[in-house]
Amino acid sequence: MEINPKIETKRLYLRPIKEDDDKEFFELDSNPKVHEFLGNNPVTSIEESRGYIKNILQQYKDYGIGRLAIIKKDTGEFIGWCGLKFEREVRKEFDYYDLGYRLKEAFWGHGYATEAAIASLHYGFNDLNLKEICAAAYARHTVSNIILKKIGLKPSGTFTYDNELCNWYALQNPNL
Ligand SMILES: CC(C)(COP(=O)(O)OP(=O)(O)OC[C@H]1O[C@@H](n2cnc3c(N)ncnc32)[C@H](O)[C@@H]1OP(=O)(O)O)[C@@H](O)C(=O)NCCC(=O)NCCS
Repeated sequence: MEINPKIETKRLYLRPIKEDDDKEFFELDSNPKVHEFLGNNPVTSIEESRGYIKNILQQYKDYGIGRLAIIKKDTGEFIGWCGLKFEREVRKEFDYYDLGYRLKEAFWGHGYATEAAIASLHYGFNDLNLKEICAAAYARHTVSNIILKKIGLKPSGTFTYDNELCNWYALQNPNL
């Protein structure tokens, strides 16, 4: 299955990720600060980044869904990714549609993650008609917890993942 979402916000486009985004992914994921609340395991080779991309392209094929590249409209720059993933690993007990985001450090602090996350929620509920979108963040990851609450996801308990206490969020599709 190919995906072809047309997502545009005030300052951003979200478009499908491509194989030749590998250098952008490497810049993003080789920064230890980006991985501080993601298990502290930054990539060390571009092959690993190509593996990340391969998994995303497989999600597109298998589920018609997946993370999307965030492009800054005014400059055309790739600033990171955001969006939905059919997540089968994080909660052992059940599968769910996960909302996530990851930006290059140079673009933090401008509200881009919030803007892209709101657009992703709308896309999931209005275009894909998903019943529920969920998200997880380390409890000590202040900024991500602020974003998830700000965009309207409901705090729905905690769980442990990789020995880390995580907050769990969920939101039902208001259209259904
Ligand atoms: C988490 C991440 C996506 C945030 O991106 P961003 O574009 O900087 O986030 P935004 O600017 O949209 O929103 C950040 C919010 O946190 C607030 N904030 C930022 N730093 C803060 C701090 N140290 N303490 C408290 N609040 C803070 C901002 O003020 C903003 O809230 P506001 O809009 O109400 O003012 C980015 O830091 C990132 O990519 N980190 C690495 C990957 C990652 O951790 N992903 C999430 C895993 S759950």
